[in-house]
Amino acid sequence: MKILVLGSGAREHAIILALRSEEEAHVLLAAPGNAGIAQDATIVEVDPFDGPAIAAFANEHAVDLVVIGPEAPLVAGVADAVRERGIPVFGPGKAAAQLEGSKTFAKRIMDAAGVPTGRAVRASSRAEAEAAFDELGAPYVVKADGLAAGKGVIVTDDRTAALAHAEQYLPSGSVLVEEFLTGPEVSLFFLSDGDTVRPLSPAQDFKRAFDGDAGPNTGGMGAYSPLPWLAEQFGSAEAFVDEVTRTVAMPVVQRLDAEGTPFIGLLYAGLILTPAGIRVIEFNARFGDPETQVVLPRLVTPLSALLLAASVGTLEDQPQPVFSDEVAVTVVLASEGYPEAPQTGRLIEGLAEAASVEGVRIVHAATAGPDAPGGSLIATGGRVLNVVATGSDFADARARAYEAIGRISLDGSHYRRDIAARVAE
Ligand code: AMP
Ligand code: GLY
Repeated sequence: MKILVLGSGAREHAIILALRSEEEAHVLLAAPGNAGIAQDATIVEVDPFDGPAIAAFANEHAVDLVVIGPEAPLVAGVADAVRERGIPVFGPGKAAAQLEGSKTFAKRIMDAAGVPTGRAVRASSRAEAEAAFDELGAPYVVKADGLAAGKGVIVTDDRTAALAHAEQYLPSGSVLVEEFLTGPEVSLFFLSDGDTVRPLSPAQDFKRAFDGDAGPNTGGMGAYSPLPWLAEQFGSAEAFVDEVTRTVAMPVVQRLDAEGTPFIGLLYAGLILTPAGIRVIEFNARFGDPETQVVLPRLVTPLSALLLAASVGTLEDQPQPVFSDEVAVTVVLASEGYPEAPQTGRLIEGLAEAASVEGVRIVHAATAGPDAPGGSLIATGGRVLNVVATGSDFADARARAYEAIGRISLDGSHYRRDIAARVAE
């Protein structure tokens, strides 16, 4: 197949690596990509936000499938423009992408579909936010309604901080004040063709910047898959996945279909396992980052077949995706100052040495260059690289990941040392 992948992060690089690892050789195109993606796909000039231009490009170059990686173009309606031209595209249209783009929309769909989630009150003013705090009590959970690049949520006992967070987002719309939920979090992805869903394997990410879940929230500092502890709680991981399929994914996909806005793409269920049962904390309308980097290396079923089937409405004909028994761990290398004020433009050394560790692949998040043949790459953002390691168990995969990341040098960079430490014990 000829496949165009849109986006420039580690998630898109991981998708491209999974497509490349298939027995069938594909022609892989990417835009805008990054320095790592450029090693594994051909970079092409097309604006990921320009739906008509993407459709024209796909027609002209006989592209069989367009995969839209990030949420912003999805919420902007890029998939609609491509799908209207009859081109298979993996990614929901503007209406269904509201599941991620608007927390109010997501709550309405969950209510209508009977999906378990935290109680939430919408506030459009300071007074309404105060009333919601009184009603729901501390700790306070306040969520910006729209896309906020991972910065929209605050969870705090400090009422003044909660109010300040609400006031930051109120001028641009409403906020949701939500019931505080507690328990381990799980990310579970579903491929959907608008009607049928196919679950992938559960993963967990590490959102805080520093070891021991200290420091500010980030886009994600690491992840691992599968989650062995699910079996203790649910009898088996399969039982957990079945329950989420039945109580979360299917009702949401059916509801969106009934509203005439089918969800075609990746439904990301962000779940919290509370003492009272599974609750949805958020939906995303695309693959999670960095969870994708640990889920896809374990996928045995060819990814291209699944993405195409979801895009053209034939997922029902696809068997359940199969995963290997190997485990995967990813550790994110971040620039100095990330997340508040990342220092960029610095040289990255040691990538080849890191990649030579058995079971390790280097997935690029924000890299550019080299300026000269054989030269070094530079870091262009906060999260720079993901070191992904597979292994027979978590001790093995962690040892490989940390051996590899130790071989990379980037001035001032930092990474967490405790990714998947608990499951390795
Ligand atoms: P979100 O951007 O919705 O994924 O929220 C970011 C993080 O905030 C989640 O991963 C949780 O750790 C936390 N969070 C969100 N909603 C709640 C809630 N209702 N109760 C407790 N923590 C929450
Ligand atoms: N890992 C969180 C996200 O992709 O939104």
